[in-house]
Amino acid sequence: MARKSPQDRRLQPRLTTTHGLLFQTDCLRLLEAIRDESIQCVFADPPFNLRKNYGNGFSDAKDEPAYFSWCNQWIDECCRVLAPGGAFFLYALPRLAYRFAARLELALQFRHWVALTMKGSFPRGRRLYPAHYALLYFTKGEPRIFNRVRLPIPTCRHCGKDVRDYGGHRKYLNPAGLNLTDFWEDTSPNRHRKSKARPGVNELKPLIPARAIEISTETGDVVLDPFGGGGSTFQEAQRLERCWIGSEIGSCAAIQERFDRFAPLSLGHLPSQRVLRSVFRHPSEFAPVKRTA
Ligand SMILES: C[S@@+](CC[C@H](N)C(=O)[O-])C[C@H]1O[C@@H](n2cnc3c(N)ncnc32)[C@H](O)[C@@H]1O
Repeated sequence: MARKSPQDRRLQPRLTTTHGLLFQTDCLRLLEAIRDESIQCVFADPPFNLRKNYGNGFSDAKDEPAYFSWCNQWIDECCRVLAPGGAFFLYALPRLAYRFAARLELALQFRHWVALTMKGSFPRGRRLYPAHYALLYFTKGEPRIFNRVRLPIPTCRHCGKDVRDYGGHRKYLNPAGLNLTDFWEDTSPNRHRKSKARPGVNELKPLIPARAIEISTETGDVVLDPFGGGGSTFQEAQRLERCWIGSEIGSCAAIQERFDRFAPLSLGHLPSQRVLRSVFRHPSEFAPVKRTA
């Protein structure tokens, strides 16, 4: 049997499912193990360098040049692993997003700056009230997949009538719902402890990665999230029957608990060998991770 290199030995999944592999490691370590142009969608929600305590020993307080230099590294790596026509979604504060967009544009094509409403923040200094996050959407060349996502026609929760006036064109609306726009109003972060995988830490509403995945992939495609956090991307990829690969440098307990609740029967399996071989440079010895009580 071929001997494992020291690097292979370190890269063992922390959790496996029928569709996904989670590694408790630095995302750069995971990315270097992935083949060029093998991933159909990247979804990244990085730390914003706000001195936030993720409760996992990770330092979110780099000086600014070091932070952007590190971001350039993982952005470039994500661009490298993205397949032709693949999609890169990057969630960030606008003051970071415009810098990230400039880096992404070196390798990819701009498609959208999606504005997602943010509530409960405060204006600082001589600035406007910050009211949105940015979700950058770039593709490697023309998109391979573009699925239209539709939202239910909004109605009043008291009287059930439409909340908008469609100027006499109501009858022409598609009964399947309204086209998703580049302005998402239903995306403020979960505030309730009970609905979060990691109490005290911001995590995305699952519908944010879900929409990115639905827009840009089809069943069986591979989604990569380098910053797993509480695992919302992995949950949605699993639910939508996409394969997923992820890393989280801190504790993965919240992701494990999420899957224990959400998809216990998927745990302890592996995605297909076809997927593992197409994505990893050295996939040979990944074994299913048995569930622990
Ligand atoms: C903003 S959170 C992601 C939240 C996630 N999208 C969710 O909805 O739960 C960023 C995460 O990245 C992790 N992280 C920071 N640096 C990392 C690195 N170099 N490699 C992998 N994960 C890292 C942090 O521990 C944190 O959990």
